Amino acid sequence: MTDTADAHTDEAPAPGGPCPVTDLATDYDMFDPDYLRDPFSAWAELRTEGCPIAHTERYGGSWLPTRYDDLQALAKMVPELSSKSPIVIDMPDALVKDDATGYNAAAPISADPPEQSWTRRALLPHFTPKGVMKDREYTERLCHELIDGFIDDGRCDAAVDYAQQIPPRVIARKLGVDEGMVDDFIEWVRGVLELGLQQPELRAKYRDVIREFFAAEVADRRANPKDDLITALCQTEHEGELLPDEVVIGMCNLQLVAGIDTTWSSIGSALWHFAGNEDDRRRMVAEPELWDTAVEELLRFYAPVTMARNAAEDVEYGGITFKKGDKILMNFPGANHDPDHFEDPHEVQLDRQRNRHVAFGIGIHRCAGSNLARMEMEVALKTWFERIPEFTLSDPDAVTWAGGQVRGPRIIPVTFG
Ligand code: HEM
Repeated sequence: MTDTADAHTDEAPAPGGPCPVTDLATDYDMFDPDYLRDPFSAWAELRTEGCPIAHTERYGGSWLPTRYDDLQALAKMVPELSSKSPIVIDMPDALVKDDATGYNAAAPISADPPEQSWTRRALLPHFTPKGVMKDREYTERLCHELIDGFIDDGRCDAAVDYAQQIPPRVIARKLGVDEGMVDDFIEWVRGVLELGLQQPELRAKYRDVIREFFAAEVADRRANPKDDLITALCQTEHEGELLPDEVVIGMCNLQLVAGIDTTWSSIGSALWHFAGNEDDRRRMVAEPELWDTAVEELLRFYAPVTMARNAAEDVEYGGITFKKGDKILMNFPGANHDPDHFEDPHEVQLDRQRNRHVAFGIGIHRCAGSNLARMEMEVALKTWFERIPEFTLSDPDAVTWAGGQVRGPRIIPVTFG
């Protein structure tokens, strides 16, 4: 056992009493296939066995809080807990450092104030509820076109053929880049956020590809302004100066990465849920007025995103010392299953009324794209149910889950009549 784990288990028990030394408490593995399939019981065990903040040495080491109140408190610990390296595993320095230019490579998500504040301010006006209404009609048309492509076959992969296809096109159109490159965008984003998490060279490769792509797009918009988000960001000012190219490139990079993997995971998890739960599926057909609460409940239950912070200094919290440099996972999905805040948290209740979930995060970094994500999810699910009200998993064993930073199903074979 390591020094840090010792401190956690023996000397400095987490709130709730001493931690029993179990594998989960001192050696959780965020990429273990069982954990990917069912992280819920692991979090419940940690909470009930008095070890709500677990530790592992794997992947460079990290802490895993599981309680809602702890996530609320930790998310507000700025600047003690820094966002400069929000990836959930420790990456070799060169791959996560700010660009040589000194600007942040994915602001605001990988920045701390004050840079986080002004880059976030530049993005927010484009993602208001009114701002994303402009994208709704396109999203509806897109969902119908995708379904047209496979409905006559009576089967499809709901992840690959549907969920994965929607967010890249919506964000590409909003940014103003070629929608014909969607397959490339999917490959790049998986390279950075999914496969790249355990293959640093792959992550570095795709980070460069994305950077170079947006560098060319930004240069083009400076010369030929268009009616798109890249142009709008190029024309945004901070303290009387236009945002520098490097900042705009980083923000575009973030929107591609943050806007794609997350939302396709949420849409995919929801379709997987309905394909395997006949009662819930039929209920949505019979009571379509439930979509508002159902979308929130599916976001709560299957929250895809875990971010990370690094202690900028030694930080005491709940009897634990996070040493300078320690990584703390912002386990928003775990908080959403805390029985102290959600009645019967392990049940999907499509009409859940009290649902203050934190799938979109908490505090200064709360998701800037939540209105767009909600719109995409609602349209994707409603359109699917309109066209394909009866569907079921054709091969449950073939379903695979990705996880770590973003959890969601990557293969969902379904059949429909
Ligand atoms: C269901 C889909 C989504 C989920 C669950 C989600 C979740 C999150 C979470 C948890 C954070 C907080 C990060 C932190 O605390 O470090 C975040 C931040 C962010 N998200 Fe999303 N997101 C989704 C979709 C989107 C979309 C569609 C966009 C837009 C392109 C987007 C853009 C952003 C941005 C720009 C930030 C950084 C905000 C900041 O640091 O100030 N997200 N998201």
